[in-house]
Amino acid sequence: MCGIVGYIGDKVTTEVLLKGIENLEYRGYDSAGIAIANENKIQIIREVGKVSKLKEKLEKEKLITSSFGIAHTRWATNGEVSLKNTHPHNVGKVTLVHNGIIENADKLKERLLKKGYVFKSKTDTEVVAALLDNYLKTKSEKQALLSMVKQLEGSFALVIMIEGKDYLYAVRNKSPLVIGSLKDEKYIASDIPAIAEFTKDYLLLEDLEIAKVTKEEVEVYDQKGKKVKRKVKRIDVTNEIIDKQGYEHFMLKEIMEEPRVLHNLLDIYLDHLDDLDISRYDNVHIVACGSAMYAGMIGKVLLEEKAHIDVTVEVASEYRYKKNIYRDKTLVILISQSGETADTIAALRIAKANHQDTLAIINTKNSTIDREADKTFYIEAGVEVAVATTKAYILQVALLSLMAYVTAKKKSLLDVDECIEVINHFKALPRLIQNILKDNELYKKIAKQLYKHDNIFFIGRKMDYAMCLEGSLKLKEISYIHSEAYPAGELKHGTISLIDKGLPVIAIMTDKKLKEKMLSNIKECEARYAKMFIITSEVIDEKDTTIVVKKTDQFTQTLLVVPILQMIAYNVALLRGCDIDKPKNLAKSVTVE
Ligand code: F6R
Repeated sequence: MCGIVGYIGDKVTTEVLLKGIENLEYRGYDSAGIAIANENKIQIIREVGKVSKLKEKLEKEKLITSSFGIAHTRWATNGEVSLKNTHPHNVGKVTLVHNGIIENADKLKERLLKKGYVFKSKTDTEVVAALLDNYLKTKSEKQALLSMVKQLEGSFALVIMIEGKDYLYAVRNKSPLVIGSLKDEKYIASDIPAIAEFTKDYLLLEDLEIAKVTKEEVEVYDQKGKKVKRKVKRIDVTNEIIDKQGYEHFMLKEIMEEPRVLHNLLDIYLDHLDDLDISRYDNVHIVACGSAMYAGMIGKVLLEEKAHIDVTVEVASEYRYKKNIYRDKTLVILISQSGETADTIAALRIAKANHQDTLAIINTKNSTIDREADKTFYIEAGVEVAVATTKAYILQVALLSLMAYVTAKKKSLLDVDECIEVINHFKALPRLIQNILKDNELYKKIAKQLYKHDNIFFIGRKMDYAMCLEGSLKLKEISYIHSEAYPAGELKHGTISLIDKGLPVIAIMTDKKLKEKMLSNIKECEARYAKMFIITSEVIDEKDTTIVVKKTDQFTQTLLVVPILQMIAYNVALLRGCDIDKPKNLAKSVTVE
């Protein structure tokens, strides 16, 4: 994971670097550091914690005049969160920052120890620095870099400075790296957002390529050392202002944006619904991670039940290593907000290697998954800053619902009246969600009854179960309360033994056909003195812990429950004083396995 930045040009180096890693903090925020340089000297400043802490430290430092530099924001993989493990790392003539994991670092380290290298950190990155420094003793820069790349196993994006040289090197393998190119200044970064405010022109390095980056130009070499041409591309996203706009947290701001972004999504797709039709496939693999995978689980229920398509949903980190069975007409759908999740990228590549059609549901344009999938449907959420996804998740669900609807319609599985009703429900969603979000007093009241508990359960069936998984994930990741989501009928096969007096159980019940079954499961919990909170679109005996949502249809019903779960999680985390936008140990974009 981690975010890396490099800059060479006439701007104030520290300002560009800090802005760059600030924009990349969604990739990790355990610690941060920069190295700035001129032809004679390299100065490294590092700090544990977020980029803001590094900024404070820099204000107290006497900085050298610099015309280039590199920076890093870390999500710890090799070695604990500490100053000594913070990037940049320096060994001999080499100073570098790294995103990725070097899988053979231990073996390489052993060899380098024998050559007399001493290591100050526990990182694989320092091993890379030593490896390159060692090659530089006997080889030209280019040959040394080529030898280094040959030796490294795993994933890496590196920005490298060599003592006494006034240029940067960039190298990558399986970790993204972009080079922003303006006349007389160049930017290197893990991702386009880090540099989008500085330049719209960029080029992408392919795996195992090496770029020598001076102020004036970028020379790219392939793994044989042959010079190759890389096309300069243009970023086609407008620069969004990344600002909380008065909200206390990005997460709250992003939840509040849901009616608007949903309206936007419907605006884009309702006029071109046929584009979303997947009726020519009889088998779909949905592959994703975390919330994106839970969105896929809702898609599965709808595609199976309404469009009669056989769907499997798989966690990408499993999919990439298991035997996948493809049929004649299989479509592999990859869902990812960032488009940079390492496991989802690997799953996409496996599907392609097996000659399967691939479709990405993506937020971030020009991301790796966007570029490599055969086809992309954009959810157009805009930038999502909070680590816990909210608006992107609801749009993923909405897009899958639209796909299921149009596919069912194409297969004549819906009658005309049903189609009219569903479309009307879709159109009403933004307004209904806006009303749901106005009820914050209710969510605060519920949160007050939840926030002191150590364990919270969610139960539901079918799509409601899929939502339980997301509700539970949202709650635990930002409030650090342990939570489990269970298919309601499964509780009695073991987990019910954990239900004690006062334990909160959140039951979601929106499926009319399963109402009686759910009510029995709720009674089973009540019989063990659980404290029930029920979110439902059914008519039931209401208590002050019941939240009633308007009854719509299966395609749109979940979209009215999702914001409630998000608001409950948000308010619980708020009462517990958690760092809501940047929960501990997490990162927005998971670019390592
Ligand atoms: C949870 C969350 C994660 C992501 C997952 C996939 O709130 O945000 O579970 O959904 O890491 O990320 P993307 O969608 O970027 O592939």
